Amino acid sequence: MISRRNVLFGFAGAVAAVQLPTLALAKVDDGYFELTAGPSKRKLYRPDGAESDLWTYNGSAPGPEIRIKKGERVQVKFINNLEEPTSVHWHGIRIENAMDGVSGLTQEPVQPGDSFVYDFVAPDAGTYWYHAHNKSWNQVARGLYGPLIIDDVEPLFDAAHDLTLMIDDWRLAGEGTLDVASLGSLMDWSHGGRLGNWLTVNGEPVPKIRLNRNENYRLRLVNAANARVFEIDPNSFNARVLGYDGQLLAEPRTLNYAPLMIGPAQRVDLLVTPENDFTLDEISGDDPFSIIEFKVSGDGMPSANPIKLFPNSLPEPDLQNAKKFTLDMAGGAMGGFVEMVYNGKKLEGEAFRTTGQAWAFNGVANLAENPFFDVAAGETVIVETINNTGWVHAMHVHGHHFKILNRSGVEVDEDEMWRDTFLIGPEQTTQIAFVADNKGKWLLHCHMLEHAAAGMNTWFNVA
Ligand code: C2O
Ligand code: CU
Repeated sequence: MISRRNVLFGFAGAVAAVQLPTLALAKVDDGYFELTAGPSKRKLYRPDGAESDLWTYNGSAPGPEIRIKKGERVQVKFINNLEEPTSVHWHGIRIENAMDGVSGLTQEPVQPGDSFVYDFVAPDAGTYWYHAHNKSWNQVARGLYGPLIIDDVEPLFDAAHDLTLMIDDWRLAGEGTLDVASLGSLMDWSHGGRLGNWLTVNGEPVPKIRLNRNENYRLRLVNAANARVFEIDPNSFNARVLGYDGQLLAEPRTLNYAPLMIGPAQRVDLLVTPENDFTLDEISGDDPFSIIEFKVSGDGMPSANPIKLFPNSLPEPDLQNAKKFTLDMAGGAMGGFVEMVYNGKKLEGEAFRTTGQAWAFNGVANLAENPFFDVAAGETVIVETINNTGWVHAMHVHGHHFKILNRSGVEVDEDEMWRDTFLIGPEQTTQIAFVADNKGKWLLHCHMLEHAAAGMNTWFNVA
């Protein structure tokens, strides 16, 4: 998907060796954090290049790592120093609805100069992230995101062996500064979303990371891009998968296929025990290229202990007594424009030029007054999603983790079943199931943020 055409600047030789910046820890006091959104200037491209006008949390993109223990109460005092309203969503964790941070659904957006205290208990360990959830297509593209790591009560790895790697895909223009002019481009909204031309990991292009030979490392990969699907091959550096979207597998697993796709908002945790230098490559294009270089040194003793994983216990769907719902996904460019209802009015597909609405779920673009479905807390829900568009999508359910039951009728490998975001290709059908046990109004949307803005956004109610 990243073609040479897309990668304007290319990577080779563009950057001097940069040590991976460790992400600042946002902590003021035990369980209390402060997070301030505001404008800040940062060089994204060459060290001698021009500065971009970003919007960041605590002055850095990614924002600081918020790290707590499973079951611990967290309070995050959020301050909005932007010139527009915003809110913070905690992606992938099953928290109280009022703390989910969705502007207009679970809270009023936080106005410029105002603050809001997010106060919740994180029930599950794992790799999560936080990001702006008001006009996310704009706010996330400008840098408003950061990692949220929930440790097991006894962490599996010490800090030196547990690396958070947030990958982003920026669109740079001219001097190598953030292309602000193309934000909101209807071309992006109706096609594959905002694809960039410059990748960073923890804010740096092609960082170099030093590892000790033969020691076990946990790599937490987070895709913070607006729309880019990354493709990697963990076998190319003998890595095994520890988990997906924050949920650990029963044991580390060697994939018997490639590529491993990481859609927008998805996470993959890998276990690597390096012997020699290696690179993490993006392999989707004709011309694979490295996005991280790992430098391995020392003659470390092999890590003797087998890794023992402790998956979270998530509620098992009761498939026999499930309520079934169908989500028909339609619209988009390439002959896909459809008739749809938006704000209670019928639109011809081409009306997207004035409304920006190009996609529909069950014939409705964006949030309707009525929920997609309404269930009682504790009921199992099966949602069959049918992708009648010509595009791939990254579907995200708020407040719950789900099991993927099958893709186009093919049962899914046991190990890959728990997710909070799943990729669905054109003409595919995917069935997911979860116990709707978290009361409130929850979003279900495409995490290609332009698609969500252009209609791929609905909600369900758990009473
Ligand atoms: Cu990552 Cu609706 O969110
Ligand atoms: Cu989409």
